[in-house]
Amino acid sequence: MTCTAEKPNVIILATGGTIAGSAADDTATTGYQAGALGVGVLINAVPEIKNYASVRGEQIASLDSKDMSDDVWLKLSKKVNELLSQSDVDGIVITHGTDTLEETAYFLNLTVQSKKPVVITGAMRPATAISADGPMNLLNAVRLAASPLAFDRGVLVCLNDQIDSARHVTKTHTTSLDTFKSPLGPLGFMNDGKPTFYNRVDRRHAGETEFEIGALTDLPYVKIIYGHAGDDALFVDAAIQAGVRGLVYAGTGNGSIHQEAEAALARAARAGIIVVRSTRTGSGTVIPAEQSYSEAGFLEGDSLPPQKCRILLQLALTRTTDRRQIQQMFYEY
Ligand code: SIN
Repeated sequence: MTCTAEKPNVIILATGGTIAGSAADDTATTGYQAGALGVGVLINAVPEIKNYASVRGEQIASLDSKDMSDDVWLKLSKKVNELLSQSDVDGIVITHGTDTLEETAYFLNLTVQSKKPVVITGAMRPATAISADGPMNLLNAVRLAASPLAFDRGVLVCLNDQIDSARHVTKTHTTSLDTFKSPLGPLGFMNDGKPTFYNRVDRRHAGETEFEIGALTDLPYVKIIYGHAGDDALFVDAAIQAGVRGLVYAGTGNGSIHQEAEAALARAARAGIIVVRSTRTGSGTVIPAEQSYSEAGFLEGDSLPPQKCRILLQLALTRTTDRRQIQQMFYEY
């Protein structure tokens, strides 16, 4: 990081979400318009930010994050890479809707080519609500992005005074402020506004990844199929028809697959589609199981939830279609 007597330069990239949400009524925590307020309004609402960093904002998108797309991911990641390659930029904060925040965080964790701090934050209550959580989350995110302690830890997620890794974190509650959890543990906390770290993630992350998205205009088509009692071949066959390049099966337990879906997935694998077994349990590592899975060439998604397996598989497919190499990526990232 640049070490000068001046405050670190932190750029705030806004993408929308509840943190920029506006409701007609200050008691409303649902039914508001996500992404309605611009980045300037968010920054001006927290003048204390200037005590920690020199900031400027840029609007990348104004989305409800349920509508996040590969296009916005590519635009955002290219912008982050461009900014962090400048010697006078010390860190990035991204404001984002909480619904897919963990997916954008993991995409950036795999595609940002810098070890400078990148922190993603959001809010569960719209900016217009009583006790809105956005302003404190934004202040903490800037404090964290301005801190040398955040260097080389991968993309960080900071909400509700907690610091999580992009790889591990997931949204666990529909409405609670304390919704972001990491089944493998948080990295640290914002103790009275001071970043305090306890853990590190031992997987390749931003600044040490092989995924170059600079020249990409789109990403391989990969879909998730959710396993359940009474499952069948319908969605797998539809996905094969649609021309997917990869499929993630959110299996039961240790990535187990209903026998009817399994037969269809084996057909998909024979057709060259990469099939990754994940789990719908919410925690744990998918490890080798039935011999029929390995015979069919299905891969294991390690401890990534299905929505993050999809992202890693998309990026893996930009490099290779070799199953062994892709499986290795699931062990490394
Ligand atoms: C969104 O994800 O954009 C809406 C919900 C939220 O930010 O909490």
